[in-house]
Amino acid sequence: MKYSIIPAAGLATRFLPASKCIPKELFPVLDKPVIQYIVEESVESGATNVVFVSGSGKEAILDHFDRINPKFSVGKLKEHVREKVEELDDMIEVISVRQKSPLGLGHAVMKGTFVIPEDEPFAVMLPDMLIFSEGESSVMQEMSTLSEKYGCSVIALMKVPAETQGMYGIAEGKELENGVIEIKRLIEKPAEGETESNLAILGRYIFTPEIVSILKNVKPGRGGEIQLTDAMVELLSKERVLGFVIDEKTHVFDTGNMEGFALANAYAALRRVDGFEEKIKNLIEK
Ligand code: UTP
Repeated sequence: MKYSIIPAAGLATRFLPASKCIPKELFPVLDKPVIQYIVEESVESGATNVVFVSGSGKEAILDHFDRINPKFSVGKLKEHVREKVEELDDMIEVISVRQKSPLGLGHAVMKGTFVIPEDEPFAVMLPDMLIFSEGESSVMQEMSTLSEKYGCSVIALMKVPAETQGMYGIAEGKELENGVIEIKRLIEKPAEGETESNLAILGRYIFTPEIVSILKNVKPGRGGEIQLTDAMVELLSKERVLGFVIDEKTHVFDTGNMEGFALANAYAALRRVDGFEEKIKNLIEK
């Protein structure tokens, strides 16, 4: 898999006023913008051609993955900082597509497929869903291996408490191997009692090229938006789609809302900032 699509054209209304001028995808989790973690996950899985679907006011996302502005004399930076900056220079092939109006996630992905060769499978990665894995490989790497093994689309799933089911797209299916299900049904934001399943879609997908023609024809659904889930429901009727259920060593943070963003920073700081745990404990005690 050589290509990934990162849809980043949403308006981030939940994060106003912070997102008024700065795209939420560039908010930092410690020293890196959220979207850089997502791009690194894409690169680890082999997808180094990254298609950013963005809109007005989001140009800085592209600049972040371009060569550094010559106003910084890189040679004068401390070595460990210089390394962090220089690794960005050649990390990915930056491909940019515009979604002029935010007509929905399905529409953004459809726009992204315009620049991907017809017969190529590709990943879709939501930039506000940050995944930290303590296992050996990233979620995207595992999904890529699975997609190659079975030659089909794979979507990542996480177990969620029953009372939050209605906030997600939920997948039902039967177990194929440990941590992998063959999906039989997808329900977007189910009403109470509509499904027994607690497996929620979390924002990582690998699609076969079959999805492209479906996306071009899918009609606006919930909220008048073109929904990716509606396209996936149709894909299910044509092809096998697998669900990869993440394990307990994998932590997902929805950085598109305040709580998820704060938790992601706390988690990263606990792992990377010396003495952070002690300091936060002291702060809580005070
Ligand atoms: P969200 O609905 O979570 O993000 O879409 P949002 O619209 O930016 O945020 P709020 O709800 O207004 O606070 C999930 C992902 O899909 C992208 C968003 O950028 C986000 O990464 N998206 C959504 C698009 O690219 N285009 C769209 O038309 C809708």
